[in-house]
Amino acid sequence: MRQSNQQTINVWDLPTRFFHWALAFCVIAAFFTVKAAGTTEGWMADAGIAWMEWHLWFGYCVLSLILFRIIWGFTGSYYARFSEFIKGPATIIRYVKGAYQSLGHNPLGALSVIALLAVFGFQAFSGLFTTDDIFTEGPLVHLSSAFSKTMGSLHRSNEPVMIILFALHILAIIYYRVFKKQNLVATMVSGKTQVPQQAAQYMQSASDNLQIRVKGLLILAATSGFVYWISTLGASSSASFY
Ligand code: HEM
Ligand code: HEM
Repeated sequence: MRQSNQQTINVWDLPTRFFHWALAFCVIAAFFTVKAAGTTEGWMADAGIAWMEWHLWFGYCVLSLILFRIIWGFTGSYYARFSEFIKGPATIIRYVKGAYQSLGHNPLGALSVIALLAVFGFQAFSGLFTTDDIFTEGPLVHLSSAFSKTMGSLHRSNEPVMIILFALHILAIIYYRVFKKQNLVATMVSGKTQVPQQAAQYMQSASDNLQIRVKGLLILAATSGFVYWISTLGASSSASFY
C-alpha cells in the first residue's frame, strides 16, 4: 500500500487561534466604531447607537487579549512561546538566506508579531488615558493630566502606524501564499499544517488538549477581569453621544 509522505503537525493551540481572530475582530470593530461616532449624517449618525461606548468596550477587549497573549508567550504550547520564535539577528539572516527552517512564526515574521502586539497594545493602553474633552474619556484620565495629554495625542497620531502595520501584515500573508505556496491563514484557522514525513520526526507537535485550553481560558478570564476592574475606575462614555 502506498503511504502518504505528509504528516499533520499541530502548530497553533486553540487559545492562540482564538486570540488572533478575536484580536483582528476587536481592532477592526474599535476602528469602525470610532469612525461611526465621528459621523454627523447618514445611517451611522441616525442609528441611535452610542458608538463611543462600543469603541471603549472593543478597546478593553483588545487590551485583555494582548495581556493574555503576553502571558501566553511564557505559558502556552510550544510554538506560541516567545522563546521559540524570537531569535537574534544571526538566525534572522540565516533565515533570509534560506538556511534556516522552522514551523510557527519564522524569525523575520516574529519581528512583525512583536510590532503588532506592541503597537496595538500601546493603542489600547493609551486609550485608558484619552479624552475627547466632550463626552468620552478613558477611566484613567484623571490620574495625571500631563500624562493623559501625551497619551491622548499619541492615541490619535498612532492611527497611520496601525494602518501601515496592518497593510504589511496582510501583504506578508499574501506574499507567503503566492510566492512561497504557504497557506498561513488555513494554519491560523485549523491550527494544523502538513510537513514531509522525514522532516516531521525532527519537529515538535504543539499540544492542543483540554488541559491547555482550560489553562488558556483561565488566563483570559483573569486578564479580562483585570481590565474590567480598570474600566470601573473612572467615567466612560456619556449616553448623550447619540
Ligand atoms: C487588525 C487586525 C489584525 C491584527 C491586529 C493581527 C495581529 C496578529 C498577531 C499579533 C499575530 C501573531 C499571532 C500569535 O502568535 O499570537 C498574527 C498572526 C497571523 N495573522 Fe493576523 N492580525 C490581524 C488581522 C489578520 C487578518 C485579517 C488575517 C487574514 C487574512 C490575518 C492572518 C494572520 C496569520 C495567517 C497569522 C500567522 C502568521 C504566521 O504563521 O507566522 N491577520 N496576526
Ligand atoms: C486597540 C484598540 C483601539 C483602537 C484601534 C483605537 C483607535 C482609535 C482611533 C483611530 C481614534 C481617533 C479617531 C479619530 O480621531 O477619528 C481613537 C479615539 C479615541 N479613543 Fe480609541 N482606540 C482603541 C482603544 C481605546 C480605549 C481602550 C479607549 C478608552 C478606554 C479609547 C478611547 C478613545 C477616545 C476617548 C477617543 C476620542 C479622542 C478624540 O476624539 O479626540 N480607545 N481611538
